[in-house]
Amino acid sequence: MCGIIGYVGNRNAPDVIIQGLRYLEYRGYDSSGIAVWSGEKFDLVKTKGRIADLEKELLKTPVSGHLAIGHTRWATHGCPADRNAHPFVSYNSRFAVVHNGIIENYLEIKDELQKKGVVFTSETDSEVIAHLLESLDHGDVKRAVLDATARLKGAYAIGIICADDPDVLYAVRKDNPLVVGVTESDGFICSDINSIQKFLTEVVVLENGQVAKVERGRVELFDFDGNDVEAKFIALGSLEESDRKDFECYMDKEIKEIPTALANAIATYRNGAFNRIDKKYLRRIRRINVVACGTALHAGLYGERMIKKYLKKIDVTSEAASEFRYGDPKVDDRTLTITVSQSGETADTLVCQNMVRNLGGKTLTICNVETSSMVRSSDYALFTSAGPEVAVASTKAYNCQCLVFLLFVLDLARLRGEIDEFAYKNLQADIDALPEIAARTLKVAPQVARFANKNYTRKSVFYIGRGLDYCTAMEGSLKLKEISYIHCEAYPAGELKHGTLALIEEGVLVIALVTQKELVTKSASGLEEVKSRGANVLAITPFYDRPAIAAVSDYRIKLPDVNEDLYPIISVIPTQLLAYYIARAKGCDIDKPRNLAKSVTVE
Ligand code: AGP
Repeated sequence: MCGIIGYVGNRNAPDVIIQGLRYLEYRGYDSSGIAVWSGEKFDLVKTKGRIADLEKELLKTPVSGHLAIGHTRWATHGCPADRNAHPFVSYNSRFAVVHNGIIENYLEIKDELQKKGVVFTSETDSEVIAHLLESLDHGDVKRAVLDATARLKGAYAIGIICADDPDVLYAVRKDNPLVVGVTESDGFICSDINSIQKFLTEVVVLENGQVAKVERGRVELFDFDGNDVEAKFIALGSLEESDRKDFECYMDKEIKEIPTALANAIATYRNGAFNRIDKKYLRRIRRINVVACGTALHAGLYGERMIKKYLKKIDVTSEAASEFRYGDPKVDDRTLTITVSQSGETADTLVCQNMVRNLGGKTLTICNVETSSMVRSSDYALFTSAGPEVAVASTKAYNCQCLVFLLFVLDLARLRGEIDEFAYKNLQADIDALPEIAARTLKVAPQVARFANKNYTRKSVFYIGRGLDYCTAMEGSLKLKEISYIHCEAYPAGELKHGTLALIEEGVLVIALVTQKELVTKSASGLEEVKSRGANVLAITPFYDRPAIAAVSDYRIKLPDVNEDLYPIISVIPTQLLAYYIARAKGCDIDKPRNLAKSVTVE
């Protein structure tokens, strides 16, 4: 949520900022802006809309300089508008500030400053930071930064430049990600390594409660009390970049990458990932909490079901991170909390991870970004290795999260003697086949596209499924809502009749996932109920020719045969494609759906 970037050095700062903002746009795209030190004043260009809109503004109002900060916004306080776009410049024009996060006590600070005559121009919480800095500056910029930080409550990553220190970038981190890097002739700060990696060979990832002073060739770190902290550089060598190439959009590309992503996830996991977790501890676990958000939570729900099936001696719960924190979770030294996250920066999940550790529990994160906050602050990490995911709608990361979760459950069950070797080996062989089965599943794309082109005007859609299929129904439904803006609900197939069936009428589309052999007959009766009330039914199923399914479905998408436990990894593919094709038919902005951002770093 919001991307920040700053540059000082010998290059033209606005060029570096704009290039970086293009990478950061996934973090929010309600507005963007740049402040450049001209040598005499801050030149400010900002606008509602995308980075492309900012670029157009910059053509009209060219700016140049060696010191600049930039921002791309996901609105929290104040609507998307020019006036609420960052950067903010302080009342005497000496500080320019960009912010990612939420300042919880901004009204109190704003009130104090207004009483002193400071005039605010936006409705944001962030503007107070610029004015607060100005009010606290008595000739020592670092001191002003530390004093301002002491006043701010909430979560924040802040980039600061000051007219009195025109060769320095200041950066402050509390709970939101921030990275800094330097070369002999450059200094950078940013929310995400990707936005600066092409300039650097190593970076420093700030820890919570740190302030960085960045100049050409030099990084100094302090804690919030102003004490020196050692800057630990990490090499950037292996970071991957994602290029959309010939694909229509990143979501299209990322769905097509699922087979490769699964193969990579298997290879990374089998390269000793499980062995790096303390075996003695794994044998002692009595309880597992699964905590995540959105798509990652759906992968967690699948993981929960696999734990229930293969680890009978472990109690397991899964919960949305935003709820887990307030639900008095049970945590002790025999409780493992598993967080699942593509970005590793989701604030709700990260807060839970830290809370659990403070309560004496251990954490394992299943994560796609190896340098992320979640990985760095977790006891153990398993990487999904899906490759960079750029589209806001998560696709290939989900398939890999489910897969890695399953691999972990199976190894844990084997370690604890809860699965026999024969079953274990058979499942591993089935897992080996997944990349190829995913590739075969993708062949339904043209059929799904045709279906989407005929159904994109639907106003109401239900995804239903039983057992493992319910996890997939939830994920399919989220995907459709997220990028096509069609109202869609996911329901356990057997639950509709307890109230929601009242919403079923002509024109409603019901999409049923039916992959579990034992549940076919029961699922068919559920479908009968919706069909007889006027709904159209699309069945996504390997039981294509079963009369029970054929009789109750208007359309069918055939899934390849696969071990039943693995279906969620495969059956989700047609649902991902369907969301994509429906959004495309509707002319939606597929990679950047309205109101959303890829990385949700506010609670
Ligand atoms: C998925 O399509 C969504 N964009 C969203 O639900 C996402 O999965 C959620 O915000 C969690 O993100 P994370 O995996 O980076 O933690």
